[in-house]
Amino acid sequence: MDGILIDGKALAANTRAEIASGVKEYEAKSGRKPGLAVILVGDNPASVSYVTAKEKACAEVGIYSKEIRLPETIAEEELLRTIEELNHDKTIDGILVQLPLPKGFDEKKVIDTIASEKDVDGFTPINVGKMLIGEKCFLPCTPHGIIKLIEFSGMDIKGKHAVVIGRSNIVGKPVAVLLSRKETNATVTLCHTGTPDIAKFTREADIVVVAAGRPNTLTGDMLKKGAVVIDVGVNRIPDPSKPKGFRLVGDADLESCLPVCSAITPVPGGVGPMTITMLLWNTLLSANMV
Ligand code: GUN
Repeated sequence: MDGILIDGKALAANTRAEIASGVKEYEAKSGRKPGLAVILVGDNPASVSYVTAKEKACAEVGIYSKEIRLPETIAEEELLRTIEELNHDKTIDGILVQLPLPKGFDEKKVIDTIASEKDVDGFTPINVGKMLIGEKCFLPCTPHGIIKLIEFSGMDIKGKHAVVIGRSNIVGKPVAVLLSRKETNATVTLCHTGTPDIAKFTREADIVVVAAGRPNTLTGDMLKKGAVVIDVGVNRIPDPSKPKGFRLVGDADLESCLPVCSAITPVPGGVGPMTITMLLWNTLLSANMV
């Protein structure tokens, strides 16, 4: 029997309903909505669509979103000044700078300027460090959403072998940390472009998280029967039959993985909705910490 598709939209809808009621409670006690500032520099089409989805999701749960769109010609100093102002803005609980930034910007410096108490992406060195040593902090949204999706698939993570493909700061490295924490207790193997034979590891895996940014990185012949697959890839493939001229595919080949795995996240409709949901979660958390 084929594996099932993990319905990220359904899990996101359940979680957003919980967040919406938390937002109402917060508003009743504080007299204001939790606020998220979303900064987009330039007009990268994928980033524009992510930012639009984030703003729409804020409205859906009652979070105030302040949209700041800046031209890619803006001086870095001005971007840093904008962030500094938001750091001191009492109506703003979370600040997000959509990545990647256009060429020429020092991404590390920009992220470092966000106050760690408002860093709802969990990207600043303070939050990354706290996550690593198990202190309370904002967990990064995609890795946190991935843990929720694995649990939602029905798999008990404890004692399982998880293989992560990709070592990015946004997904691969932090998800490996979260999976190996005491609360989750998986044994983790982190594969990357320097791993000569990734299939050797994935064939031993109960859980595979693929975040390589390349279609067909994971195929069915690389899986153990019954594995849970989380596909983090969002790749645009030219497709003249589509109105936008492209379609989205993940990093896993769904057709060959589905008959072997027990469950897999689709692209779109898997990880993406949960990433945004955990951002809303962190924004509410931040408001309640003030
Ligand atoms: N670019 C890709 N994913 C993310 C994310 O989770 N947050 C931000 N700020 N930028 C991204």
